[in-house]
Formats: sequence, C-alpha cells, structure tokens
Amino acid sequence: MPGTELFGAEERKEVNDVLDTGILFRYNHDAQRNNIWKAREFEEEVKKVTKAKFAHAVSSGSTAVSCALAAAGIGAGDEVIVPPFTFIASVEAVLFAGGLPVFAEIDETLCLSPEGIAAAITPRTKAVLLVHMCGGMARLDEIVQLCKEKNLVLIEDAGQAFGSSYKGRSVGLFGKTGSYSFDFFKIATAGEGGVFVTDDEQCYIHATTYSDHGHDHIGNNRGMENHPIVGFNFRIGELNAAIGLAQTRRVPYILQKNREHKAFLTKELSKISGVSFAELPDPSGDSATFLNLLLPDTAAAKRTVEEFNQAGIGGFNYWFVNMYHFINQWTHLKEMKTAAPLAIQILGGPQDYSSVKLPKSQEVIGRLISFGIRVTWTEEELKTLTGKIAGCIQKALSPIHA
Ligand SMILES: Cc1ncc(COP(=O)(O)O)c(C=O)c1O
Repeated sequence: MPGTELFGAEERKEVNDVLDTGILFRYNHDAQRNNIWKAREFEEEVKKVTKAKFAHAVSSGSTAVSCALAAAGIGAGDEVIVPPFTFIASVEAVLFAGGLPVFAEIDETLCLSPEGIAAAITPRTKAVLLVHMCGGMARLDEIVQLCKEKNLVLIEDAGQAFGSSYKGRSVGLFGKTGSYSFDFFKIATAGEGGVFVTDDEQCYIHATTYSDHGHDHIGNNRGMENHPIVGFNFRIGELNAAIGLAQTRRVPYILQKNREHKAFLTKELSKISGVSFAELPDPSGDSATFLNLLLPDTAAAKRTVEEFNQAGIGGFNYWFVNMYHFINQWTHLKEMKTAAPLAIQILGGPQDYSSVKLPKSQEVIGRLISFGIRVTWTEEELKTLTGKIAGCIQKALSPIHA
C-alpha cells in the first residue's frame, strides 16, 4: 500500500504552504492565500497522470462515486448494474442516488464480466457501474461495446485503480464519468480524498456544482450567484489536497516499483503447479498494487491463508476475512437496513438481495488470495518473502499434488 508507506518532506512542504496562509478552504479568499491553491494543483496533477480533460477533487472516493453517478444523470428508480465484489461504497453510492443496484457476475479479472452484465440487463437498466478491482482492470473493449449497443451509461469506479490503464488509456476514462479514491490505503493518499474525472465538460460542471451545495463556481470561485441544482457538501479541504498533490507526484515512481516487485513474485510463483493469477486484460497497464493469486479451489485457498497466517506474512481471502468487499458480508444490504431505500420501497427491489445467486463470483472470490505489494521492499526482503509465500502454497497444495 504505497499511500501508507511513503510520507516525507514533500508532503510536509505542501501542507506547510497551506498552514502558512491559514486558508483551509478550497474556494475564494484570493487576497489572503498568497496564490496557494492546493485542490486545484492536486486536480492538475491527477490530470497529468490520467490525461483526463477534467478532474475535480472531493472529500473521499465514496463521494467521488456519488459525483460520477449524479453527473452521469443517475437518479431515482434507475437500475444500475454493480458487481458483488467491490468496497461497499460503490453500492451505497447507487442507493444514495436513489438508484436500484442490480448485482451481476464478475470473472477472473475480479471485475464485472460482459456476460454477467448482459444477463442482468432489464428494460429499467440505465447504467453500469464498473469497478476496477485490486489495481487491475475489467475487459473494457467488450464492456464499452456492450454499453453502446444496449444504450447504457458506463460509469467507472476506479477507486482501487488510480495509475492503471488499458491499452494506454487510464481506467476511469472509458465511460461518461469516473472516480478514484485517495484514502489512506490507496496507491496515493490524501489522508481522505477522492477525485472525479471526465472528458465531458457538462459532466464536470455538474460534479463541481453537486459537490458544493449547487454553487455554480463561476470563474472557478464560489460566490453567491446561481444554484442550478441541489447538491451537498463533498468538498475536499486544502490540507488533504496538499497531501494528495505530493503523493500523486510520486505515482510514476510507485508504479515502476510496484510493477518490478509484482513481476518478480509472479515469475517465481508461476513455477508452482496449481497456482494462477487474476486475469489482466492489459498486463502492462496494471498498477500492481496487489498480487492476486487464484488457487485451484476454496479449500486450497483457505489452507493457503492459514499457512500465510502461521508464517506471519499477510495475504487474505475476501471470503474468510470480514473485509466488507464481498456480497456475502453485506447483511445490512440483504436485510435492507439502509438509510436510502426509498426508490426500492416505492418501486420494489429489482432483485431479492437476501437470496441473490452469483455462483461464478462466489467461485472466483473463494479461490482468490490478495497480497499487498510494498514499494519499499528491498531486493533481499522481496526474495525472502517470495520464498516464504512459495513454501506456504506448496504446503497448502500438497494434499492436491499427493
Ligand atoms: C472500489 C472502491 N470504491 C470506492 C471506495 C471508497 O473510497 P473512500 O474510502 O475514499 O471513500 C473504495 C475504498 O476502498 C473502493 O475500494
């Protein structure tokens, strides 16, 4: 988790710039702020990494998903196809928009599959919220094509995939709108923060307005002018933006290190029969924040995690660890204990969440073990760790190999 590993003089300098002026608000106060605009600079840096035409920093990855949905026109009663494997924020954002989440199958990319999406489409489907999980990416060519054919709005939650690209284009930019998270556990952190991206100017204007109570920010400042839409407070503060700025500048270095470390682990571990890896439709675009192992079956994955735990080397399976990323852990959703079920109460749920069946997703998540890649590993540490991981897997797979 690079965001938790690298913190130094660069972050302190950006934060001190803000503290020196005392202007913690991202808008206005032009005379006092000595031309210090960290949220704007953070957005420019995100644009540099992603090549997005427009970027708007907000308070979290969760609120960035809300902006992406709002700017793409998702509202009450719209069915939105979502994956059962994502951080719960993606699903919460659909509910809070008044939308109706419809769960569809993922595949070995760990993301929604084109087949899963196609099977979940109904006459009420308005959008697909595609989530790029564990630093990788979905089968984008096919999904973009499918959305075009079926006239569905594609929105990307790239909360875990800042820095990832597919065929040279950043994930988050394949749909109408997209979002990234900069929380403490991401490739780059703002402490708490998120960034909305789009290539569509109208969507950008909508998101900036929506994220600040409907203020229209004429001249990129916030006055007492018009309030074309109702919004809410999703603003990022200057201190968080300052950290996000310094961290985003580190991303090219982080990507290089992550990729080197993951390539070494992958090369060594692929020598073990029975081990495969999550599918990467464009391996060269992987942000490589996670090594995602696929074991032959759930029992083997469970044994492997137990071996990892005994060896004290991390690695987890999203099924056995209550990490809140897989539908089997979302009992509050299954029981509809949500603050925003209005559309569901009025229109009826599109799916019975308490019994939704997703056998392919269960099978993939049952076999998956994710391992966080560290930027700061030395060559020696990486070699030792790789040897330990290999030893654990071989032990766990010995009943199968016997
Ligand atoms: C895919 C995905 N979307 C959204 C979020 C929410 O981001 P945040 O924690 O910044 O609100 C996360 C956080 O882990 C995530 O993994």
